[in-house]
Amino acid sequence: MTKQTLLVTGGAGFIGSNFVHYWMKKNPQDTIINLDALTYAGNRESLADLEGQQNHVFVEGNIIDRELVNKIMADVDTVVHFAAESHVDRSILNPDIFLETNVMGTQVLLDAALKNKVKRFHHISTDEVFGSLELGSSEKFNEHTPYDPRSPYSAAKAGSDHLVRAYGETYGLPFTLTNCSNNYGEYHFPEKLFPLAITNLIDGLKVPVYGDGLNVRDWLYVQDHCSAIDRVLTDGKDGETYLIGGLTKDISNLEVVKMILSLMNKSEAEIEFIADRKGHDRRYSVDWTKINRELGWEPSVDLEEGLRRTIAWYENNQAWWRPLKEQAKDFFKANYKKEN
Ligand code: NAD
Ligand code: DAU
Repeated sequence: MTKQTLLVTGGAGFIGSNFVHYWMKKNPQDTIINLDALTYAGNRESLADLEGQQNHVFVEGNIIDRELVNKIMADVDTVVHFAAESHVDRSILNPDIFLETNVMGTQVLLDAALKNKVKRFHHISTDEVFGSLELGSSEKFNEHTPYDPRSPYSAAKAGSDHLVRAYGETYGLPFTLTNCSNNYGEYHFPEKLFPLAITNLIDGLKVPVYGDGLNVRDWLYVQDHCSAIDRVLTDGKDGETYLIGGLTKDISNLEVVKMILSLMNKSEAEIEFIADRKGHDRRYSVDWTKINRELGWEPSVDLEEGLRRTIAWYENNQAWWRPLKEQAKDFFKANYKKEN
């Protein structure tokens, strides 16, 4: 097996930490440099079992720090770029940091990747850049869907996607890009719908559902996202984009919350309808046939099984999420006001 060095950005966050675990188990010969600023969303505890492993080098630092980024890019073969501000509700309250990290931070990485001649820059993006589909329609996002971001978060992610492609076209930087749907699973910060619902229910609190609850998302178990990235890094073609999703049928937020309630033996009285998110995208649906056809990838875990595993993990890892919920109190207070 050829040895390589990967620079993983945002590897102390939700998907990044899952990816680091996935990759190190599958490719123990490789070295991972894990660059993470440890914002509120980054957590060394999510990497605690890797302490002392010589082929995992954790660097606490910001992707916007040109000098640092240039220095650590020196011997890197492949960049896997997860680092971002990722929560839509926080982007509505405070957009500035989203532009700084997601757009400017990505540009710093691209410059350094070019300068140091990395073999591949893989950019992790989201289906949210495509905007919102009509409820009840059969339309899906695919690799040709025009961009139409509608929140500060998705606009900043769209900006980063455009920059990656521009560096490919203009300077010949070898890149791949994936746009993925909503992930869920272990190490998910308890501000996003699934971990918030599960941890609230463990604590006997209600589950806040925005608006009428009929918004639709495509849900993907995080380990399946990791295997999809693996397929793209291994056999994906330079300059290509692949969409990644987990479902083939629509499921509303309300239906998925009811699934969680049922798996946790709770009643529907635990649902609390609250004011809608500003500019709330109505429906996402992902056509993931390209990655399936060209790279042979498909999700391995269905929603019910993934939820069972996720619920069990939150029940068994309360020491991981309790401090995070405590720390996010001010955000919860600002976000969950009674009125918009
Ligand atoms: P997350 O918020 O859980 O983690 C982000 C990580 O990036 C944290 O560890 C944080 O400390 C780090 N970070 C933030 N700003 C940084 C900076 N300036 N410099 C260095 N590190 C910084 O995010 P996530 O949910 O794991 O998402 C990871 C990536 O995947 C993001 O790019 C996101 O847009 C994308 N994505 C997420 C989902 C999802 O459902 N969570 C779906 C599709 C795409
Ligand atoms: O689609 C991919 C995106 O999925 C990623 O790019 C983002 O980084 C990730 O955060 C996620 O964005 P969403 O906004 O879709 O995820 P969130 O968990 O915040 O919300 C999921 C749905 O649930 C959405 O329709 C809003 C709704 N919701 C969310 C919260 C936090 C509620 O009804 N109540 C809540 O308390």
